[in-house]
Amino acid sequence: MAAAVGRICGARLLQKYGIVAPQICQLSTNAQAWTKSRKLWLTTLGVGAGGVGALLFALEQSVQASGSEAHPYHQPWSHNGWFQSLDHASIRRGYEVYKQVCKACHSLQYIAYRNLVNVSHTEEEAKAEAAEVMIKDGPDEEGNYFERPGKLSDYFPSPYPNENAARAANNGAYPPDLSLIVSGRKGGEDYIFALLTGYMEAPAGVVLREGQNYNPYFPGGAISMAQVLFDEAAEYSDGTPATASQLAKDVATFLRWCSEPELDERRLMTIKAIGIFSFLAAIVYYYKRHKWSTMKSRKLAYKAVSKK
Ligand code: HEC
Repeated sequence: MAAAVGRICGARLLQKYGIVAPQICQLSTNAQAWTKSRKLWLTTLGVGAGGVGALLFALEQSVQASGSEAHPYHQPWSHNGWFQSLDHASIRRGYEVYKQVCKACHSLQYIAYRNLVNVSHTEEEAKAEAAEVMIKDGPDEEGNYFERPGKLSDYFPSPYPNENAARAANNGAYPPDLSLIVSGRKGGEDYIFALLTGYMEAPAGVVLREGQNYNPYFPGGAISMAQVLFDEAAEYSDGTPATASQLAKDVATFLRWCSEPELDERRLMTIKAIGIFSFLAAIVYYYKRHKWSTMKSRKLAYKAVSKK
């Protein structure tokens, strides 16, 4: 059946373009059928593209190496693998660290209390967390703004009313919003962990201005955020020993989740997609071989019909 279809289509094609001379024709997709100039052209294009790629890579490497900051070391995060999910107990502890320490200065404006539900908290717990903060709402019927306890639909309140107030309270430095910080900084959670645990005495020759601290992982080394994580700097509700590195690890995992709340879902989709597409690929491959084998292996000979 497939052979017949192939033959008919082939004959139509040849007729349409007027190639009905006595000849032997073979449909082919292999490189032998390419003309010399085409081969030359494509080789030049390939070599050119490879060269440009290598140049860009080299430039990127040299820029990275020329910075003065230390590179964060890679940590064995439990969510590192392609098929690993985030550690949700760690997200919950990280939220506690954010709430007890970072929240004093950093906003988390793109995360709402409802986002915590079924991720780190039950619905009841998330409602209780929301109810602990006061949210500015209004205007009411008389046109006044008022404060009310938070609801699940509220976003995390910012510690400062605006950027100027934040700068005024922090020696002129602005504590950035942390919602997307893990995606926004090179090194991601490795950088956050290294930054939070990497404070040290400034080496000789480094001059710090008032309110600045030395941190080799921060570009330039002088950061306006003091060291905030020490052993027991926050308390965990699940009894995990709150060492400085544990606090840093948990808050970094929490901030990774804030940057990519869909991470677990995406990984789950990857597993499903690989399953479905490999199944489909096998079918398509078999089908393609079946359909094309006649087209690719045939030889057609046409004889001109002499009109006498
Ligand atoms: C006392 C206020 C304060 C607290 C508490 C605080 N920070 Fe900061 N943070 C700052 C300020 C100010 C800056 C800006 C520093 C600068 O630009 O020099 C900053 C900057 C940062 C940066 C950005 C660094 C960069 O690459 O730009 C990160 C990440 C960060 N803080 C994380 C945290 C985390 C996580 C916590 C909680 C464990 C925390 N901070 C607690 C004040 C604070």
